[in-house]
Amino acid sequence: MYQTLEETHLRFFSSIVGGNHCFADQERCREYGHDETEDLVFPPQVVLRPGNAWDVGAILKYCSEHSIPVTPLGARTGLSGGALSLQGGVGLSMERFNTIVEIDENNMQVIVEPAVIVQELQEAVAAKGLYYAPDPASRGTCWIGGNLAENSGGPRAVKYGVTKDWVLNLEVVLPNGEIMQTGANTLKNSTGYNLTQLFVGSEGTLGVITKATLKLIPLPTKNLLMLIPFDSAINACAAVAAIFKAGVTPSAMEFMERDAIELAMKFTGSNSIELNSNTQAHLLVEVDGNLEEPLMNDCERIMSVVEVHGAGEILFADSQAQKDALWFLRRRVGEAVKAASVYKEEDTVVPRFRLPELLAGVKEIGGKYGFRSVCYGHAGDGNLHVNILKGELDEKVWNDSLPIAIKEIFELTVGLGGTLSGEHGIGHVQKNYMDIAFTESTLQLMWGLKKVFDPQLIMNPGKVFPDRYWTKSEC
Ligand code: LAC
Ligand code: ZN
Repeated sequence: MYQTLEETHLRFFSSIVGGNHCFADQERCREYGHDETEDLVFPPQVVLRPGNAWDVGAILKYCSEHSIPVTPLGARTGLSGGALSLQGGVGLSMERFNTIVEIDENNMQVIVEPAVIVQELQEAVAAKGLYYAPDPASRGTCWIGGNLAENSGGPRAVKYGVTKDWVLNLEVVLPNGEIMQTGANTLKNSTGYNLTQLFVGSEGTLGVITKATLKLIPLPTKNLLMLIPFDSAINACAAVAAIFKAGVTPSAMEFMERDAIELAMKFTGSNSIELNSNTQAHLLVEVDGNLEEPLMNDCERIMSVVEVHGAGEILFADSQAQKDALWFLRRRVGEAVKAASVYKEEDTVVPRFRLPELLAGVKEIGGKYGFRSVCYGHAGDGNLHVNILKGELDEKVWNDSLPIAIKEIFELTVGLGGTLSGEHGIGHVQKNYMDIAFTESTLQLMWGLKKVFDPQLIMNPGKVFPDRYWTKSEC
């Protein structure tokens, strides 16, 4: 079992990070006890703000020796509860690791610390004509460390890949206090096991990332953006795979149900989209590159595909201001849904061609249990954010039926060849559905890896693995 913190522990932590960076008062700990996942709050007993990797090492070594749980904390914008200190203990805030260490223009790489805001990283490299593409909706506030921990995606992942595809090497601190490099700062690497990729998406359960070397590419200079309405949401989803089959790889291919756009417009006070009364969904499609003509050709191909799938009148964003307005709206959908009702969000992902079946199945399950759902997401990746709204539903119906409905949604997703999360991670709120995606022996294998890195099970306890793993006596 884990130890509850006492005065001697706090004195040790204070001696490492300094009194200013160690606090245990309830109000501040509560602030560090939530992310953006529903309304969940699990405060740590103490928040520590180490200033360098050696201090992280000293803290982790001490916590391993004293069975003290450690929850690494980033910007706390996560949507799977990864930053909740379920067992109290230490909330290890990485906020002082906020430097872009080096932009290496010759090798097109950047070395960053985990608390750098993703949009600031993008802007810093863009100033040098370089591009870091992963761009979660929260890019103005989320940190690169959290993106690494959750393997975040965002709209541009469809052409440029998710966070993992940009990571060359990591500096990590292990629970025994050792500081190590997971790989090398090279574009290719066939040297041993790929520990870099094991750490990406490990949700703070293996160690603490203190530095990352990321790959960059030349910044695309041109893009075109289209908003395509459909009278049928299923037809909109069916058009997605057809566009790729027609030979176009858009740089973004987003799906939004009518409700998603309506909620976002209400939430932001915007009226940038005129909604036709028949419109049930939109695709927001962007193509990018460096030459106007091929992009126009791509748009024409897209137009002929969507026409076959029953698209309405397409809006071409004809100015940067209009593009910004459309993206602003798209990026605010998540917050808008959250503000509209008590809700539960799932981050389902299926092979792209199965998207219409996923949407139809989600609606059927919703109908069965009386839930309203608002769906949107990264359709080009087959990644559908399913938001189930409580609205006026009776508390008992909500509490009793919701877990069953979610289980059915995940079974449907996996049955379609998909899996539980495309980009938000498993964290706390999805862990008890992991059996739907994996066999016991696969989970055991993952648990074995966890124990190799973290034999005392101090790192982010209660996450990723189903409850039964954490309640065994060994923990
Ligand atoms: C988005 C977040 C919720 O796509 O992933 O808006
Ligand atoms: Zn998303």
